[in-house]
Amino acid sequence: MSASTPILQVSQLRCSIGGQQVVEDVTFDVPATGITAVLGRNGVGKTSTLRGILGLIHRRGEVVLAGERISGLATHRIVQRGVGYVPEDREIFSKLTVAENLALAERQRAPRREFVAELFPDLVERRDQLAGTLSGGQQQMVSVARALLNDNQLLLVDEPTKGLAPMIVGEVADALLEASKVVPILLVEQNLEVVKQLADGAIVIGGGRVVHTGNAREILADQELTRRLLGVHTEAHA
Ligand SMILES: Nc1ncnc2c1ncn2[C@@H]1O[C@H](COP(=O)(O)OP(=O)(O)O)[C@@H](O)[C@H]1O
Ligand SMILES: [Mg+2]
Repeated sequence: MSASTPILQVSQLRCSIGGQQVVEDVTFDVPATGITAVLGRNGVGKTSTLRGILGLIHRRGEVVLAGERISGLATHRIVQRGVGYVPEDREIFSKLTVAENLALAERQRAPRREFVAELFPDLVERRDQLAGTLSGGQQQMVSVARALLNDNQLLLVDEPTKGLAPMIVGEVADALLEASKVVPILLVEQNLEVVKQLADGAIVIGGGRVVHTGNAREILADQELTRRLLGVHTEAHA
């Protein structure tokens, strides 16, 4: 496989929840390096696309990871193949300590504890603290750290900066940028400043379909396009 082979190829993905179609027809590739953003207004099917790739909701179509079809596999098999997931609501165990949360995530003989400790020194200091007493940003760090303990081929990260204080947003973004040096990331993110900082490519979803793909910064620099596709004014910060 050449260096330019995508790590993930999604073709004609359709997903439904309780018989209701939530992803209509989504096709895109994720390059084997860097961060690829998934953009789109609320409710267009970004989270469902990630959950469909993981087989957490009913899906049809084809998903290929590093050249191998994973769309017929059960979720635990997809995870074993090396797809890490940092879900929208973080899903940490609030009554367990930081160390216990991390220990439960380890699924290989030699987890990357040192790498995670270097990336999140704050979590090392707080290893005996109950995760439920951490700030939102620290909880997000635990969620990302869990995915980084294992040698994944790809991380799916869903709105990691949502609801975080502005100062912490930068810390989470920095951690994701460091993480992306060892594993490619498919990132759903609504904070366009974060997208600008982190993302190489971007996929824009609208109404359950891919409506645009391209270079993330070029997309965000196009005010007419972002207004039409995302419903936002990118010049708001100027
Ligand atoms: N558990 C669910 N049951 C029924 N419909 C759902 C459920 N979760 C999401 N949806 C619907 O699926 C569509 C896509 O949702 P979602 O993938 O969460 O969008 P996004 O992440 O882009 O905001 C929305 O119309 C939403 O109302
Ligand atoms: Mg979502």
